[in-house]
Amino acid sequence: MSDRLKTLLLIICSLAFGPVKSAPNWIEHASRPGPDIAPGGQSRFDQLFLQADGGYRIPYPFGRLIEALDARIDNGDEPAVLQVFVPLGRSLQREAPAPDYFHFPRRVIALDGEPVTRDNEAGLALRYRLFIAHQPKTETLEVISYNDGAGRFEFQLVENYTAAAEPRVAPANRVMCMSCHQNAAPIFAAIPWSETSFNVAVASRLVATLPNRFNSLIGTVTADAGVIDVLVERANYLSAAQLIWRRGCTTRRCRAAILRAILQYRLSGESNFAEAATGYQRDYLGELTRNWRRLWPRGLALPGSRLADRDPFATEAMTIEQDPLFARPPHATWYRVDATLARGIVYRLAGFFTLADIRRIDRQLARLGGGGPSAGYRYRASCRATPADAESMILSCGDHSRAQGLQATLELELRRDQVDSIRITSLRVPQDTNLLQPDVASFTLHPGRLELLPADSTAGLSLRLANGDRISSMVLSWNDRLRDGESSLEIEVVAEFEHVDQALQRLLDEDVQRRGDGLAANPFERKKILHGLMRELNMKPLAWAETTAPASAATARPVGKLDGKLALLVPYCAHCHRDDRVNPPGFLAGDDPRAAVLQCAPRILRRLKAWQTGFAIAKSPMPPAASLEFSGITADDWPASDQYRAMVASIEELALERHGEQALKNWLEADYRLLPPCLAALSE
Ligand code: HEC
Ligand code: HEC
Repeated sequence: MSDRLKTLLLIICSLAFGPVKSAPNWIEHASRPGPDIAPGGQSRFDQLFLQADGGYRIPYPFGRLIEALDARIDNGDEPAVLQVFVPLGRSLQREAPAPDYFHFPRRVIALDGEPVTRDNEAGLALRYRLFIAHQPKTETLEVISYNDGAGRFEFQLVENYTAAAEPRVAPANRVMCMSCHQNAAPIFAAIPWSETSFNVAVASRLVATLPNRFNSLIGTVTADAGVIDVLVERANYLSAAQLIWRRGCTTRRCRAAILRAILQYRLSGESNFAEAATGYQRDYLGELTRNWRRLWPRGLALPGSRLADRDPFATEAMTIEQDPLFARPPHATWYRVDATLARGIVYRLAGFFTLADIRRIDRQLARLGGGGPSAGYRYRASCRATPADAESMILSCGDHSRAQGLQATLELELRRDQVDSIRITSLRVPQDTNLLQPDVASFTLHPGRLELLPADSTAGLSLRLANGDRISSMVLSWNDRLRDGESSLEIEVVAEFEHVDQALQRLLDEDVQRRGDGLAANPFERKKILHGLMRELNMKPLAWAETTAPASAATARPVGKLDGKLALLVPYCAHCHRDDRVNPPGFLAGDDPRAAVLQCAPRILRRLKAWQTGFAIAKSPMPPAASLEFSGITADDWPASDQYRAMVASIEELALERHGEQALKNWLEADYRLLPPCLAALSE
């Protein structure tokens, strides 16, 4: 093993397997992929395209699939489907179009925006929850999409994606996908995304190759790489949020405290939540801190979604950082619970709800109004007017020099002493940590009095404080003339969030039989949580439009028999090389893989040798370091193990026996690319 590789492996593997006392636990790890078929739930892709009869209806060609997705999402003025072309990349499909890379560029799409819903349709949250890669030459799709029920991303493959026939959709070989997707989620190169159509050199090659097809397309998609990068990173954090929800909290009370914060955060237009509340501090932060010390005393490591950038036209071999098969250092490591971490989890989980969900809850709370003993509360401040010019003035309310009391700044346009328009440029409410910037939804002028209805118009929500209560009105009143005299501002807040508190309390009190159960130690699941919450808030249940057909099962092939020492390959290689596919090459597929192993032997030897100190690594070692533990051995122990030595010896013997000394030398020293391809069908 080269020294660089060795150091890197030491850092990374010790994180995974913990020989070093202080190494944190990985939240996801390539060697712990979990089952190919999730124990429950459905992938987003299946929710969209699986039919009740078990078949799939996927719009074809790919452009129509994009249109179909686009029609389901509203992303304001921004595109809802982000696209990027990767003609020369590092994915499994990269060699599929050879040598016509620019005729058949891989295209990757990601989604952003809110689901379009009508009436009481629940809609599917799609923002960074569905990623598809299309290879037009082979007409295959690689899919990574979220499964809410299982709280994880599913990896799927779609083959036979044509207009003429039924596509074949199957769960992918998860351990194999995760040898590169070590975060169990999408991955993407770092800025400046040189392999993508964001790179002018790539874009112009595409246009030059197929001007009719790419001329217009390139113009509209070039900026998308950066957005996809961000969406991929957001997706990467979901595993951390789920882990804290499921295991960082051990009680339903703790999860209810998180949910309360989430609702305040979303209802306040993502401005803030009541972080000082006893429930948040004691039931969530307190409990999480105790559990953390017990479960993760060495910290938690979040794997990264970002690969080092690579110039697609470079001729030199990939560096370790660029090769997606090398174990990567964590994206973030958290050693202890602090306020920022706890808050971060609230923000990430808050993204599970759609804006329509929050609007519905907002409207229902407004309908229910202030209940109980404290129906509402008011704040007052006196204002001073400063005329800006003949027709406009600025009202400054409250004492801006102090951090207490109600403070506001209003801008009024006047015409013949009538108020023409009004803008609230700042608003700070006592006990609320945020400076609010509300829109004025409407206003009415009475003698000596101006009533305003503030709102969060962009989000289509009422204006709410961080505690979830709603500002129902703002009233400006004056004695003489507004322009020169004293005036005062009064705002009225309705204590509506009490209804949410009562609903959460009822969910906590529920007897075991009635539980849904959104607050159990299961993944954070929007459907279950909304079900209970909306019921307790007296809301109509939502209509969920997904099929219940079971997803197609994987057809696991039995691995063929190998005699003698070659049989050693099976436990270390078969889980990734048993499928009858081009990449990774299926040299262990079929009943009698011996011939295929012989064909691939030179490459196998090189990839095994790549584990040894001093051996030049033009290619990543096999099995991939990050995945080794799946076969029950650590990357530290592997190169010195009997199994490893026997495996290398068996391939070397094979070379000597069949081809002689010179052949072995050649296998070890030739330019890797000139070695015979792994699959015989690919040799000239
Ligand atoms: C050899 C490494 C490697 C393996 C193995 C691999 N991928 Fe990827 N994959 C990549 C890279 C690199 C990217 C990002 C760049 C690109 O798409 O070309 C990617 C991107 C993707 C994307 C687009 C969204 C994203 O992550 O950016 C999907 C979907 C995807 N892969 C699915 C799969 C599936 C399904 C499997 C298993 C069958 C798999 N991949 C196995 C390297 C790999
Ligand atoms: C966890 C999954 C995994 C395991 C286990 C694994 N491989 Fe691989 N292997 C891959 C992937 C993925 C690729 C393709 C990488 C790419 O596209 O660059 C690959 C590629 C290869 C190649 C390169 C083929 C070529 O065309 O150059 C060889 C050789 C190979 N593996 C040998 C082995 C051997 C030998 C073992 C067992 C000792 C093994 N692999 C175990 C995932 C695995």
